[in-house]
Amino acid sequence: EIPTITLRDGLQLPAIGFGTAGMRGAQGVQAIDSAINQGYRLIDTAYNYENEGTVGAAVRRSPVPRSDLFISSKLPGRYHEYGKAVTAIQESLYRAGLDYFDLYLIHWPNPERDQYVDAWRALIDAQKFGLIRSIGVSNFVPEYLDRLEKETGVLPAVNQIELHPHHSQPEQRDYDRAHGIVTEAWSPLGGKGPKTQRIQETSVLQDLAEKYHKSAAQIMLRWEHQLGVLPLPLSHNPGRQAQNLDIFDFSLTLDEVQAVTELDGERQVTGYGDPRTHEEL
Ligand code: A2P
Repeated sequence: EIPTITLRDGLQLPAIGFGTAGMRGAQGVQAIDSAINQGYRLIDTAYNYENEGTVGAAVRRSPVPRSDLFISSKLPGRYHEYGKAVTAIQESLYRAGLDYFDLYLIHWPNPERDQYVDAWRALIDAQKFGLIRSIGVSNFVPEYLDRLEKETGVLPAVNQIELHPHHSQPEQRDYDRAHGIVTEAWSPLGGKGPKTQRIQETSVLQDLAEKYHKSAAQIMLRWEHQLGVLPLPLSHNPGRQAQNLDIFDFSLTLDEVQAVTELDGERQVTGYGDPRTHEEL
């Protein structure tokens, strides 16, 4: 019932996935276990979330076959150098207890280090070795994507960026679409804390929620889906996990999609800053 999105290399991903940042230990396994039970098949983790083992434990204990699950992880900034990157991918797999990742991304470009092209070559080779089915990046801007293409001839299948109604990313979405790159959204609900609440309280979202008998969170996720974006919402709560999957039985009109896009007034509300200056260790 979850539609799929086909990547440039042919891999078909579910059109919505599950974010796991901060989910660790026994409670983390329980939350991820619950998400798989609710129907999530795409699980997004990262070396720097320090929970690849948590995700792997949930995957191994799930009755869902590994081949029906899509596990995605990310390379930290400190391992961009080619040899370090190859080792880091292997270490990610060992921690997760998996033979392969479906998707592996460069977590942040870290342009100060200027090694993301080197890291990209490592991902290209790891894909050839069969460690990763699809390769991509996160928090990349057009300039860095152009450079990957120019220097390696290979464009990422996915670019995972911060995207929600207060940071709707029209330019990057256009670039990604024009280049056949699928845009994934991190913090698709605006992240945690008081600012999330504020996005949900926006009258545009509240009015749409009332019209469609959905929650403001569901309106945001549906908006992202209709933009062609693959959202990765995070919730510890089984009811909200299920609610966030229940977005495929209604459609926003084009005007409504546009109205949500225009909520983009505040920038970067989750506070990680600009990918051009953020340094991810
Ligand atoms: P919780 O884990 O208690 O559900 P994002 O995915 O944008 O990073 O946002 C995650 C935050 O939004 C979490 O704090 C999560 O809290 C909350 N959240 C997730 N789903 C919903 C929902 N359907 N309604 C309200 N809040 C939600």
